[in-house]
Amino acid sequence: MTDNACPLMTALADELVKAEAIRTPPWREAFATVPRHVFVPEWFEQETDDRGIAVWRQRTAEQDLAAVYRDVTLVTALDPATAERVDETAWTGIPTSSGTLPSLMAGMLESLTVQDGHRVLEIGTGTGYNAALLCARLGDADVSSVDVDAALVDAARARLANLGYEPHLLACDGTQGYPGQQASFDRIIATCSVPHVPTAWLEQLGPGGILLTDVSLGIEGGLVRLSARGDGRARGFFTTVSGRFMPARADAQGYPAQECQERAPTTGSRSTVLTAAAIRAHYPLRLALAFHLPRVELVYYADEAGTALQLQRGDGSWARVPLAGDDTGVVTYGGGDDELWKQAEAAWEWWNSAGRPDQDRFGYARESDGGAYVWHIPDGAAWRLPV
Ligand SMILES: C[S@@+](CC[C@H](N)C(=O)[O-])C[C@H]1O[C@@H](n2cnc3c(N)ncnc32)[C@H](O)[C@@H]1O
Repeated sequence: MTDNACPLMTALADELVKAEAIRTPPWREAFATVPRHVFVPEWFEQETDDRGIAVWRQRTAEQDLAAVYRDVTLVTALDPATAERVDETAWTGIPTSSGTLPSLMAGMLESLTVQDGHRVLEIGTGTGYNAALLCARLGDADVSSVDVDAALVDAARARLANLGYEPHLLACDGTQGYPGQQASFDRIIATCSVPHVPTAWLEQLGPGGILLTDVSLGIEGGLVRLSARGDGRARGFFTTVSGRFMPARADAQGYPAQECQERAPTTGSRSTVLTAAAIRAHYPLRLALAFHLPRVELVYYADEAGTALQLQRGDGSWARVPLAGDDTGVVTYGGGDDELWKQAEAAWEWWNSAGRPDQDRFGYARESDGGAYVWHIPDGAAWRLPV
């Protein structure tokens, strides 16, 4: 199959160069060299079955080799606690691992600015594809990768060995880094998200080390590239490359069931300038909302009136705007007055008055006590993030 894949590998590498996700020859070479189908021999595609239920249909590289070389994320594992077999090749369930979108992977690897001889730790081995790209670029002796799911690590180890790569792989909770390493790495790249930058990562980065991770901040989150200062502090910015990852989980058993929060009854409604369309359309606006409204979540809410975007807080208060219909300019709220939405409107006004900054106009700083803040680089406006 690899012979048939060669032109597809070259075409994917060229597509990523054209899209400016790959910007340097060594990464083009790596993408043209590492066969993705070895790491993603099968995956799950979402479809709706004849009863209207969304299911994950299993596909294989043998059936459709070209599909593996498209620039798409491929879901590769479902949480066994939630997965139920629907028919011979379809399951329901919550994804727990995926082969990352190649253009996102390429953009992140470029942002990592590795040089020959750099030692890199990846958090979230998953399929092993990204670890293989790192091996192709740096040599396997300088690559370490961990995943919380031992079965994924075993599968990745076998696939990597198949191509002659033997990086340092370990099944463990990657928020602790690679156990036993102090100041050992020049770069850390996480392909799962964390709410805060773990202390272990900063301890395991050597002087001048760089960390690239997705931080989740409630309403939104994003990729930050941080330089470690060597004393538990790190400073950097949200990258131009945007992408989100599945959250780091504490163990291989999948994600704990979400507690369904009781919502307060409706208190009122009024007109608003901030619409669901604006929130959905502008990723940097959602980031600004996350900075202004800590500990608030953004969810889809559906009832007989239709679907809405809802902000909600742990105290049961909420505010929502419909996605469609005649009332897209009306906010309905519950659990007190419209304070939550007023804060969202203030964030919208701030974002507009600041010239609608993109995500890379925001800095991110992690302090030695584990606290963090973000700031708007042009004028220094800053927001402290909850610990
Ligand atoms: C998007 S996938 C990684 C994709 C992977 N880099 C690749 O090339 O296929 C995210 C991975 O993070 C792993 N993960 C989740 N929580 C983790 C944790 N606490 N420590 C290490 N890995 C974790 C998941 O098991 C999953 O395999």
